[in-house]
Amino acid sequence: MQPLLIDTHTHLDSHKFDDDRAEMIERARAAGVHMLVNIGFNRETIPSTIALAEQYDFIYAAVGWHPVDSIDMKPEDLEWIASLCDHPKVVAIGETGLDYHWDTSPKEVQHRVFREQIRLARQKKKPIVIHNRDAHEDIVRLLQEEKASEVGGIMHCFSGSWETAKKCMEMNFYISFGGPVTFKNARVPKEVLARVPLDRLLIETDAPYLAPHPHRGKRNESAFVRLVAETAAEITGKTLEEISKITTENAKKCYGIE
Ligand code: NI
Repeated sequence: MQPLLIDTHTHLDSHKFDDDRAEMIERARAAGVHMLVNIGFNRETIPSTIALAEQYDFIYAAVGWHPVDSIDMKPEDLEWIASLCDHPKVVAIGETGLDYHWDTSPKEVQHRVFREQIRLARQKKKPIVIHNRDAHEDIVRLLQEEKASEVGGIMHCFSGSWETAKKCMEMNFYISFGGPVTFKNARVPKEVLARVPLDRLLIETDAPYLAPHPHRGKRNESAFVRLVAETAAEITGKTLEEISKITTENAKKCYGIE
């Protein structure tokens, strides 16, 4: 029997899947993925994320504004995201956060847009999906200042230190690992995964990006979450079935999915 897996962060509406989306979703189902959360993060991907969630009963949606696109977010976009929180398939706000790598939006703008979404999440009582690139200290500080612990959420594709992970877990966040933890040279992510308590651990793909070993550099897809689960099992000394069960329970609890 297949282990039952949840891909907690994926972008199946991406144009990279335009030629074979239905087949790719079928491959995920065949690999044991029985639930996934698609992430809409700007004006273009929020409607396509909602459409996928309405088409498939096992696909849920998160809606938010990506830090890279912060500069484009208008007040009416935040109101739009707020109104979508009442949609029955919308389970979280995000991905939001800070990205100091691409530098397409000034830091002050990123901070304001991030703070607004944390406040919205608290108001709507939804967990927050956090994107963090090279911004560990500010992420922790803003989450603390805006009392994000009230709703918690997910540190998506976590790449930080154990110290950062600990601070995030103190604020009710789960630590989610994706493809990069499977890379042979991923010393820090492997060490952090080994120390994260099992009841705080999540897995994801972030497809079509960040494909796990041995698909590194190629298009990622949700079926590959199994490779992340296998790496997590290896690191924690658990079986694939145990990891699948634990991460499924955690994901359902975090996203409030029955
Ligand atoms: Ni993503």
